[in-house]
Amino acid sequence: MCGITGYLGGKDAYPVLVDGLKQLEYRGYDSAGVALVSDSGKLNVYKEKGKVSDLEDYIGDKDRSGHVGIAHTRWATHGEPCARNAHPHVSASGRFAIVHNGIIENYSVIKENLERKGYVFSSSTDTEALVQLIDYMSSRQESSDTVSILQAALREVVGAYAIALIDMEHPDCLYAARKSSPLVIGIGDGEFYLASDVNPVASYTEHVIFLEDEEIAQMCCGEPLRIVNLANDECRHEVTTVPKSLGKVQKGGFGHYMLKEIYEQPDCIRDCMRGRVNIEDKTVFMSAVHEHRDRLLSAGRFIIVACGTSWHAGLIGKQLFENLCQIPTEVAYASEFRYSNPVVGSRDVVFAISQSGETADTLAAVELARSKGAFVYGICNAVGSSIPRSTDTGSYIHVGPEIGVASTKAFTGQVTVLTMIALDLAREKHSIADSVYHEIVGELARIPYKMKSALRSDERIAALSGIFTYARNFIYLGRGYSYPVALEGALKLKEISYIHAEGYPAAEMKHGPIALIDEEMPVVIIATRNALYGKVLSNVQEIKARKGRVIAVVSEGDDVISRIADTVIEVPSSLECLDPLLSTIPLQLLAYHIAVCKGKDVDRPRNLAKSVTVE
Ligand code: G6P
Repeated sequence: MCGITGYLGGKDAYPVLVDGLKQLEYRGYDSAGVALVSDSGKLNVYKEKGKVSDLEDYIGDKDRSGHVGIAHTRWATHGEPCARNAHPHVSASGRFAIVHNGIIENYSVIKENLERKGYVFSSSTDTEALVQLIDYMSSRQESSDTVSILQAALREVVGAYAIALIDMEHPDCLYAARKSSPLVIGIGDGEFYLASDVNPVASYTEHVIFLEDEEIAQMCCGEPLRIVNLANDECRHEVTTVPKSLGKVQKGGFGHYMLKEIYEQPDCIRDCMRGRVNIEDKTVFMSAVHEHRDRLLSAGRFIIVACGTSWHAGLIGKQLFENLCQIPTEVAYASEFRYSNPVVGSRDVVFAISQSGETADTLAAVELARSKGAFVYGICNAVGSSIPRSTDTGSYIHVGPEIGVASTKAFTGQVTVLTMIALDLAREKHSIADSVYHEIVGELARIPYKMKSALRSDERIAALSGIFTYARNFIYLGRGYSYPVALEGALKLKEISYIHAEGYPAAEMKHGPIALIDEEMPVVIIATRNALYGKVLSNVQEIKARKGRVIAVVSEGDDVISRIADTVIEVPSSLECLDPLLSTIPLQLLAYHIAVCKGKDVDRPRNLAKSVTVE
């Protein structure tokens, strides 16, 4: 939710800022803006509705000079998307310019107080309340020290913020602060970079610092970085070296990041298993599992918390933990969990799954679980993000930066990590026979190859997708391990094509959705060969009897459902518990191609953001 960049140093700031914003557009793209301290010492602020490219067009050949600047790409919380509400916001006196990610929850109180003191507001945002508050604090302090002004203002604030600030009384400095929203500082040679995640920074420097809650950073030309907290204690930080593989991500010849990421899955899943799955002796070793073996095995139950696609991965995790490890497992939406006064204690292990590692609700669920004494295990993708830093232990999924707003490779990465954890625990617990363990591990190692062959259906799916652009609704059905896949397939379609889609357990169809079925209704059903195949076959017949249009995802060589369904898409056969890793792929492709046929902006679907850092 909103991306921030900042720069101070010897380079021209504008290209660095805009380049960074483009990498952060997954966080929001309804308006964008930049503030630069120009070479002539003037504060230039440019803002435009729409994407970063619209901002660039708007700026054209206006004055883009300057070596200090801040920039923002927005996902609207308070105030409609328009240039007026876009960041940066400038304070009444013109002294401060700010960009902000997060929500100032008490902004209306702050705003009313300031209005009584004569401040006039020009936007409907919570952010403007913050910059005016900073302005007001500066007028009350004798010293012009920006850090102490910021401390005074931020002490008044309730909510979440990551901010970058320019103070025109100190135009050779840049300021940043955070609470519950991420902010990364890159340290170059006599220069500083700021960004909401590590990728824009890693394009320029390997040396980064992750700012902690309630810390303020002061970056000034020719001076070392200074970090203090709201209580004015000096804070020391280890400089982290970020992998060189991070940095700018390109589409690599694909039309969209989403398609590129779908195609990357065989390689990503191989990376995810690297050093963990031993192909020779068919074993799995997850270091976090072994480090905390006793804690995990003595757990009364597991609770998985997550949002969106990660929650769907969690539903598969539940089946893996229960079937393979015999550990009772609950799955909760993080947003519900955090406000449900959950019964959680020190014998519970909570798994927090999050691609970004920044989802506000998941982070809050982690904090709540820890406060109640639970042991928390994070499963994340973004290295160094907030969730991995606030959990007791964790495993990265290592699938590389995911840019497409609709999650694809992160989902299969999460399911792979959950599978490896379940297998490792099952072996330690002796809850499955050794032969079963080795069989599953051996098959897991083959999944990347099988994913490659699942991707071969792309051309067929592209060809048939045009048929379905008429549809206003879709139903997705699956049973057992395929039920969460059905939910995920429906979510993908909704997210990027704006077609209403519902995922259901196939047998539940009779309790409602069957009433919707007619010759217009496409029904996607996952019918791979497994223990429930016969039951799913009956479901397909029930749909056909009502003239529904069945698109069935079947195992290679299926000659039963293929005779009944209108369309079949084959995926390689696998073990039931690994089927989701393969059957998900055609559903991702189907959603992708339907959205493309409908002319939708696949990588930047309306109203969505990749990283939901506000609740
Ligand atoms: C947003 C994204 C989804 C993602 C969900 C949870 O809704 O658009 O793709 O699944 O947040 O995000 P997380 O980063 O916690 O996995």
